Amino acid sequence: MSGKRTFTMIKPDAVQNGYMGAILNDIIAGGFRVVAMKYTRLTPEKAGEFYAVHRERPFYGELVEYMSSGPIVAAVLEKDNAVESFRKLIGATDPQKAEEGTIRRKYAKSIAANAIHGSDSDENAAIEAAFFFSKLEIFE
Ligand code: RTP
Ligand code: MG
Repeated sequence: MSGKRTFTMIKPDAVQNGYMGAILNDIIAGGFRVVAMKYTRLTPEKAGEFYAVHRERPFYGELVEYMSSGPIVAAVLEKDNAVESFRKLIGATDPQKAEEGTIRRKYAKSIAANAIHGSDSDENAAIEAAFFFSKLEIFE
């Protein structure tokens, strides 16, 4: 059975470009409930740890530098079938390939700086939520 929670980050480009409010609005209008949220900044070490699965990819260095370049919004979201439903709301990794109306299509400029993160599995959603939030910071 698919889970009810996913994890997201509004990435540095989207915060920098003033889309934080619009993106949160789309998330809430999409039927997601915010159960934890934090405005913070990743150190390069923390960004490297978060994206460790991509360590061998050619874009890893660029990704770590970009994700630690400015503030982000980290959040845990609740909805039935949260992971899949949220990936649908944000659209494809490359904003030019993302469907019309999706968050990446509307607010992202490039595949590297693509406005928002969404967990890719229930297991990773739990790991990523725990990376940013203690149990007491996640509200039922
Ligand atoms: P995310 O994990 O951030 O939600 O994105 P995703 O699942 O759609 O894509 P993933 O394959 O997990 O890639 C993670 C992030 O790495 C950056 N990226 N850059 N320059 C490139 O070719 C490239 N490819 C990926 C993006 O920021 C992507 O979201
Ligand atoms: Mg991913």
